[in-house]
Amino acid sequence: MPWARVKGDFPDWRLHKPVEDRIPEHIRKKFNIPSMASHKLWFAEPDPVKQAKFLEIPRLLGFADAYTTVNVQHPGQTTALHTDKEQSNFPDENKQFKRILKKAYKLGTDRPFGHMSNEEQYDKLERCFVFLQDHQPGHVIILDGEYVTDWRRGDVLWFDWRDCVHATCNVSHEIRPLLQVMGHRTDKWRDIHGSSRLTEIEI
Ligand SMILES: [Fe+2]
Repeated sequence: MPWARVKGDFPDWRLHKPVEDRIPEHIRKKFNIPSMASHKLWFAEPDPVKQAKFLEIPRLLGFADAYTTVNVQHPGQTTALHTDKEQSNFPDENKQFKRILKKAYKLGTDRPFGHMSNEEQYDKLERCFVFLQDHQPGHVIILDGEYVTDWRRGDVLWFDWRDCVHATCNVSHEIRPLLQVMGHRTDKWRDIHGSSRLTEIEI
């Protein structure tokens, strides 16, 4: 059973608004921060007009101050086993680095939670996927050894981004689009998480 379900008319999921690099190149090089622009084929921020409904979803699911991207996995792409904690951990917690992240945050950053310490992120943030199209044979997600398949558009998949070892691959002929939401846990999130019934929200 999905964690929740989003119902209604979905906007077209195609990528409209590439994520821009807001951290200057020489700083990214110095601190080994990957370029967001280089990922433009794989994810984008929802277009505020054409995909405005995608930006409503986090609040309805109990995520506050969320950062939302449309992620697409093309046929043949894979993401090997990892936890998101590994990816979120800042390799360098020195003061200059934190200052840069804070500045970038104010600019509306590609490191939207960079102003928080790692501990704070583990403590306060949650993450989920909202599928933007029905599952196709060959679309695979693995969560702690369990294979997730057969999702429907609108199904919400929650996992503990800190500790869940997960991987994805696409060996179909069709792109697999999903919405990735990360934001602050609220009471509404707790209600959905604690409920034994499927929560359905309408957009
Ligand atoms: Fe991940």
